[in-house]
Parts: sequence; structure tokens; C-alpha cells
Amino acid sequence: MALKLRPLSYSLGVEVCGVDTSRNMSEQEFGEIYRAFLEHGILLLRNQKLTREQHIEFSRRFGELDNHDALPRDRHPQYPELLMVTNEPKPDGSPSDSKYTGRQWHSDMSFTLVPSLGSLLRCYTAPPVGGDTLFSNMYAAYDALSDGMKKLIADLHGIHQSGTRKIANDETGIKRAAEQKRINPPVAQPVVRVHPETGRKALYIGEKVNRFDGMTEEESKPLIDYLCKHATRHEFVYRHQWRPDDIVVWDNRCTMHCALGDFDETQLRHLERTTVLGTPSGYVARAA
Ligand code: SIN
Repeated sequence: MALKLRPLSYSLGVEVCGVDTSRNMSEQEFGEIYRAFLEHGILLLRNQKLTREQHIEFSRRFGELDNHDALPRDRHPQYPELLMVTNEPKPDGSPSDSKYTGRQWHSDMSFTLVPSLGSLLRCYTAPPVGGDTLFSNMYAAYDALSDGMKKLIADLHGIHQSGTRKIANDETGIKRAAEQKRINPPVAQPVVRVHPETGRKALYIGEKVNRFDGMTEEESKPLIDYLCKHATRHEFVYRHQWRPDDIVVWDNRCTMHCALGDFDETQLRHLERTTVLGTPSGYVARAA
């Protein structure tokens, strides 16, 4: 039976209607879901009342899962395949390590040598208003560049650095950022990546990129800023308003995303993410 798909925005994303991901679906059924994932970049599945084990099991259909060794503070203590994205304070009352997760335009794990294929973010609790996530179509962003700009960036590598969020400047944020930098040396990634499955070119940039390899920060910044601004133009973007039991699946090889933080921080926002390992990409960057 053909999947029922509802477009989410002009540029990317579909809602997959009437699918229960807690069920053990056939190869054929999952194959249709995976084709929709490759075609639309983002899938939304509503009303998925999954246990943690079921979330992990469904995610494994997409590929091998990351144990989040690069983000040890944020993983679930019993389930290393789950990355916590929560502002719920810790049992001792101190702030959550992951309360600012994702507050920059980025593609998951771009700062590692095995950047993610895709992520599956499940919503447990959303604030009554806001806490939205933006997603951008990086194929469309690449395609819309002029031939001159495509030529200019064709061989550039951006240096991706973890632990660079400006907002996380409280004690927890500062400690976490220092640990992130220590564990994860800067990694150079191609600015134009060829998607290993579709063969299409996508822009691979974001706010974790602080310079291009072989260039200074000062020289790089205007072009990084331009490419980020260009890639997040309204016509390339989908804005997701979370509901409990939503699962959003995105392809990290042709999209980037940003958690807006547009909500009352005294309200609970709790999501959990699995991260599917991608193919090796990039190299450890030389010092500037
Ligand atoms: C993430 O970057 O994986 C989290 C996004 C979000 O919290 O909306």
C-alpha cells in the first residue's frame, strides 16, 4: 500500500500519515519510508507512543546508531543511543547540560569524522508556546547559488568546531563547551558534499564553522556568514511546532537545523534523539 504523505513546506519535509513505528514493519513498508526520507529530507510522524527501546529499534532501521561518545554529558545514562535534549534540571537542581542543545544552525555530528546520516528526534514534552525547530534544505541552497559562487566554494573545506554556542555562557555551559573542545578536535569538512545515496550536491556549512581550511577567521567570516544567511532563506526553511509524541526524522547530509529557544525557559521542553551514523567524511584540521 502506498504511503500517505502530506507536504510540510514548500522546500522540504513530508508528514507520513497512518504509520505506527512501534510495529515491526516489513522491508517493503520501511523501504517506502526510506525513499520518502531520501526524497523529502524530513519526515514527520505524529502520535508515536514509543518506549525508549522502540524508538531505538525503529531508528536502527535507518542504520547503525551513534553511542554519542562525542557528547558524553548529553546521553541518557542507561541508553547511550539516546541523546537528551531537555531543560529539566538535574536531580541536584543544577541546570541540564543539554538545555541549549541545537541553538545554532548545524548538521548533527559535522564536527566528527563520521558525521551523521540522519537523526530521529522524539518529543515527550513541548512548551505550550514555542520551542520550535527550523530545518533548511541544503540541496536547494546549493542549487540556488550562482555558477561563480559554486566555483569559488567547490574545493573549500569548513572547519567545524564543537562547543561554540554563544548562548551557553552560564557555568554549566562553559564547562560543557570546554569539554566538547577537549574531546573533539576541529574537523575540516567539504563545503559542498555529494550525498552518498542520491548523488546530489548539497551545501555543508553552519554556525559551527569558524573558518575555511588554509584561511584565517577574519578572511573566512564574510563568506561563512553569507552562506549561512543564504542557506536559511525563508523559501528553503520548514518550521516545526512540536507536539508530544512527534518523531521528526531528518537527513543530516542535505539539511541543517536550529532549535529556536523561542519559549519560556521555566516551561519543560523534553526531547530525545537517536543519531544514525553516516559515512566517513573530512579530516582533523591543522592549526590556523
Ligand atoms: C538537535 O539539534 O538535535 C536538537 C534540536 C531541537 O532541540 O529542536
